[in-house]
Amino acid sequence: MRKPVIAGNWKMYKTPKESLAFLDAFLPLVEGHERDEILLFPTMSSLAYAIEAAAGTNVRAGAQNMHWLNEGPYTGQTSPTMLVSIGCRHVLLGHSEPRLYFNETYERVNLKLKAAINHGITPIVCFGEMLAEREDLRTEEVLRTQVQAALRNISASEARRLVIAYEPIWAIGTGSTASPEVAAAAHAIIRHELSHCCGQQTAENTRIVYGGSVKPENIAALMAQEEIDGALVGGASLVPTTFADIVQYKE
Ligand code: 13P
Repeated sequence: MRKPVIAGNWKMYKTPKESLAFLDAFLPLVEGHERDEILLFPTMSSLAYAIEAAAGTNVRAGAQNMHWLNEGPYTGQTSPTMLVSIGCRHVLLGHSEPRLYFNETYERVNLKLKAAINHGITPIVCFGEMLAEREDLRTEEVLRTQVQAALRNISASEARRLVIAYEPIWAIGTGSTASPEVAAAAHAIIRHELSHCCGQQTAENTRIVYGGSVKPENIAALMAQEEIDGALVGGASLVPTTFADIVQYKE
């Protein structure tokens, strides 16, 4: 049984005050909701506030990125120990935005992934192809290469905590959601590659969530796919009622 994860990635939106206002409105809307794990990823400046405001509820807040070392002369970075010290237990890694705009690589994602696991932080590692790669029929090759690089030398027991997000770049912020069938096929490719890297059992147990223009109108059809274990939601996670509607999709 893979418990679904519905996660909101707030990207570079919301001040601490706006984050707290969101939680004030959102927490009562999803109170008692247990079917799905609910995660939010605020910016670093809001994270400690969000963690504190959500303490004792069914919602957890995590970081959008982190460094792999515990400390050092790395301006602008936050370390795993720093995240743990504020009660953070989740981190997004390898999102396509840091990959496209800030030269993030899967080699670094691999170091971060190991550091997260060693510190008891659950990593949500993102994979996804660009439109041109899909049109060139290279989706499978691209996803397999990404998974191999990110999960290099990760053992089955280390991979236990891992959550994966399939986020096709052409679907992010564009309104062109992948069809449930297209998303499920990509998840199957990732799961198959995962079984090569970390064993069959890990592949069967790992949650793979879909991200890219998820909305209240399309979440149920996506979640009806056996292969889809949740969603990573960008824009539609910024409004409490909209995100609550996504979390509470009807099966
Ligand atoms: P949108 O839901 O805005 O398309 O963003 C998806 C995403 O990048 C989540 O990480």
